[in-house]
Amino acid sequence: MCGIVGYIGTEDAKEILLKGLEKLEYRGYDSAGIAVRNGEDVRVYKEKGRIAELRKMVDDSFDTTTGIGHTRWATHGVPNRENSHPHQSESGRFTLVHNGVIENYEQLREAYLTGVTFKSDTDTEIIVQLVEHFSKEGLDTEAAFVEVLKLLHGSYALGLLDTENPDVIYVAKNKSPLLVGLGDGFNVIASDAMAMLQVTDTYTELHDGEIVLITKENIEIKDLEGNVITREPYKAEIDASDIEKGTYAHYMLKEIHEQPAVMRRIIQKYQDDKGNLTIDKDIVKAAREADRVYIVACGTSYHAGLVGKEYLEKWAGIPTEVHVASEFVYNMPLLSKKPLFIFISQSGETADSRAVLVAVKELGYPALTITNVPGSTLSREADHTLILHAGPEIAVASTKAYTAQIAVLAIFAQVVAADAGVKTEIDLLPELAKVTSAITTIVDDAKLMEDIASKYLSTTRNAFFIGRTMDFYVGLEGALKLKEISYIQAEGFAGGELKHGTIALIEDGVPVIALATQESVNLSIRGNVKEVVARGALPCIISMRGLEKEGDAYVIPAVHEMLSPLVSVVTLQLISYYAALHRGADVDKPRNLAKSVTVE
Ligand code: M6R
Repeated sequence: MCGIVGYIGTEDAKEILLKGLEKLEYRGYDSAGIAVRNGEDVRVYKEKGRIAELRKMVDDSFDTTTGIGHTRWATHGVPNRENSHPHQSESGRFTLVHNGVIENYEQLREAYLTGVTFKSDTDTEIIVQLVEHFSKEGLDTEAAFVEVLKLLHGSYALGLLDTENPDVIYVAKNKSPLLVGLGDGFNVIASDAMAMLQVTDTYTELHDGEIVLITKENIEIKDLEGNVITREPYKAEIDASDIEKGTYAHYMLKEIHEQPAVMRRIIQKYQDDKGNLTIDKDIVKAAREADRVYIVACGTSYHAGLVGKEYLEKWAGIPTEVHVASEFVYNMPLLSKKPLFIFISQSGETADSRAVLVAVKELGYPALTITNVPGSTLSREADHTLILHAGPEIAVASTKAYTAQIAVLAIFAQVVAADAGVKTEIDLLPELAKVTSAITTIVDDAKLMEDIASKYLSTTRNAFFIGRTMDFYVGLEGALKLKEISYIQAEGFAGGELKHGTIALIEDGVPVIALATQESVNLSIRGNVKEVVARGALPCIISMRGLEKEGDAYVIPAVHEMLSPLVSVVTLQLISYYAALHRGADVDKPRNLAKSVTVE
């Protein structure tokens, strides 16, 4: 979703900002812009489309060492140049970038800005016009900025330039992510550390309700009452090579191929000196004390939660519900007496999940976040965190984070079970090792997945995924993967459910991808395949060694069937990747989507 960068120092700000915006491209955007200043001369360059287009507009000869930049994912107003950020106040004195949504912008316009001519349809422009309004009333810029912040309802990360105070970038944050990066003779702001890793790996977190005055030598953090806040910086533990594509054509392909390495890293990170699986004692205690677990997540993370529920119930014996965050927040079920909430989020910034976390904390319930991003909002605001150790995931389509989420949930459930003295049906460590080598086999077989994509998905308008029990959950994820990057309309169903309505859509040549990795339902899912074949469907069966039958499209290596989602999903990730590639789609940056969904 929207991304922000800013730089104040001694180097060429244009290049640093443009490179920073390129690193934020993965978040998803439809327009981009920068504002750079030289003394009182502020130049704004902005355009609908890719950063490459923006680059062409920028005047190379303009000498500048300060600026702010933005990638926009449209919420208020269509993607066009006028609605792109930065936005300027009527006189041109103030220039602003904003990530988030201002809910009361129409009321504020009516209350304070009736005489002002607006150039855009955005909620953001209200903020910059309001700063000018209050400064015209006699407030200095900091006071005017604070006055405006006190009026805003909603989420924001903001960077503001003022021609009359050219040596400062004014910054504020509420609910939307923003970091301040520290350098020698320069300072930066960024929506995430990856954007500015080119100049610094040292960052300071900002909390909601804080403003920061940034100069090239100093940063000053304050709350809205003017109290100065001191906070220790931290080093971002990201290897620059983690955020490069290397020899891969796309980040998604690279991230699919990284999954064996991620599995090995997770096994290592969650092992103690004696080689036993381990989880922080307080987290295990929180789970043991809970009478019910509520998993809350969105998209792919929700699908991982469905698999995790099976582990928590079958191994740890804890009743578990899985909820879509955007529904849960408006329609909370009747809660048990001692709930534990688990938020699963690759980014740790998803606004829908965060809204539930805020509500849950207000009710006083314990919360655990399972995330790939240490220090992310959901991690900071929950009582406990488990890290995925998947490394940065850049492609919008989540792949290695999904398998990491399932692996961490499996380890968590096993450790809780062991703590309770329960012997489970599975010896997890050796089984995870088998999973790792099975994933390696599949990525080595990528060419076969490409053939499957060509055979079944090169021209179709729609596709169905079916499976039973664990395979049903993987089918949901397979369908999401396929639709989000190839734009083929794809739906996942429980094998037995199709005949209750959706089978009406089956006609000649419609691909039905069936997963058959679960012994207890192998015959039933194959029966469901027969039902759709009888109506003309083109079946593509992904089965598991030991359960295969002649004609199956691909047979995954044998693993414990509770862990088969970790393996079978990799076939679906690769098939989706090649389907999208063959159809000419922008695999890493699918239309309309954002990597980090920071608005509700
Ligand atoms: O960062 P999160 O895991 O909270 O993100 C949740 C979803 O937005 C995300 O999984 C989305 O569904 C992916 N694009 C799926 O590939």
